[in-house]
Amino acid sequence: MKIANIIGARPQFVKYAPVAEALQRHGVQDVLLHTGQHYDYAMSKVFFDQLKIREPDYHLNAGSGSHGAQTALILQKTEEVLLNERPDAVMVYGDTNSTIGGALAAAKLHIPVVHVEAGLRSFNKRMPEEINRILTDHISTLLLCPSSVGIANLRREGFVAVANEGALIPEGTFAPPGSIDADHPLVVNTGDLMYDVLLRSVEIAERESDALGRFQLAPGTYGLMTLHRAENTDDAEQFAAMISYVNGIAARTPLIFPMHPRTRKMYSSIPAKFSDAVTIVEPLSYFDLLHMLKHASLLLTDSGGMQKEAYWLRVPCVTMREETEWTETVEAGWNILYRDYEGGHPRKDDAAGVYGDGQAADRIAAVVASLASL
Ligand code: UD1
Repeated sequence: MKIANIIGARPQFVKYAPVAEALQRHGVQDVLLHTGQHYDYAMSKVFFDQLKIREPDYHLNAGSGSHGAQTALILQKTEEVLLNERPDAVMVYGDTNSTIGGALAAAKLHIPVVHVEAGLRSFNKRMPEEINRILTDHISTLLLCPSSVGIANLRREGFVAVANEGALIPEGTFAPPGSIDADHPLVVNTGDLMYDVLLRSVEIAERESDALGRFQLAPGTYGLMTLHRAENTDDAEQFAAMISYVNGIAARTPLIFPMHPRTRKMYSSIPAKFSDAVTIVEPLSYFDLLHMLKHASLLLTDSGGMQKEAYWLRVPCVTMREETEWTETVEAGWNILYRDYEGGHPRKDDAAGVYGDGQAADRIAAVVASLASL
């Protein structure tokens, strides 16, 4: 059985790493496409190096450009590869333009689409990610959800076939309940892949990262911040409002801010500026980021993945958005939307296990391998 994996943006490199190993263990051949959506060393190559991801079989070089241009290029170039490779299924991850571009190319060629991190919803269609998620889910044959929130969202949208009644599927071989195809998709709760990666990386990060020393910071004395979402950075007024909010927090807790290229571009073109209590640095590698987060007293972010990483590492998180897809982290008391933030976190500990048990990659590979028997 042959699977094509399509990745292109930073969080997808992290998610793919444990899947590649698990697919190998399950005897599934894996063709790897890098769309090139992220192309800088710090946004791409360093993740391949640290997470020991092999060199992609295809580089599509579809970085930059408007959403339309970027997605179109990914669609066109992925189609060429798929026609050449004829895989049995295509795997896409998350909610980026690489996700929808890859999924659409496959679906139009009648190749089953496996969507990892299916079912997430912000209920805000002004986010490009929300559009990408909804469309990808509705052309997928296998929808693999990180938690039961995704399952509930998909049920509401009319998906009826759900494995194991929506609970985390057991480990080991997977037998699909009934036939699956594009018209009869199956929803499966596999747990969250980023938890797999975090569990096996956190010790390595502690050993190998010298980020705290580089930035001359002591554990627990700083907050970490990331900000890159289009809805926060692309509009000058909104970005300025966020800068002013952040400066307010930085007056109490000095912040270290690894700046994403999208944010850097916009920041250089607006008059609003961060205060001296916000130290801007280059994007961090995965290990540096885990190390910095683990020892931070607070995380300020609009990233999806980091809200969960903070939750797993038990670091209070303030999410710089109007809503979040990762509602379990809010319910657990470790995450709070910035408008609700008044300085305290209840930090309840009652949501352990909502994102699975760190064995998502094996479950995902078992589900994918079961497609061969259809
Ligand atoms: C994308 C995803 C977002 C995800 C994020 C992770 C979409 C719609 N958005 O946003 O969901 O959270 O990745 O980081 O797919 N750039 C560089 N160097 C790079 C990569 C990008 O300079 O290595 C520049 C691009 O030229 C562009 C800007 O940064 O001007 C934005 O990049 P893009 O890939 O369009 O989206 P992200 O903002 O990274």
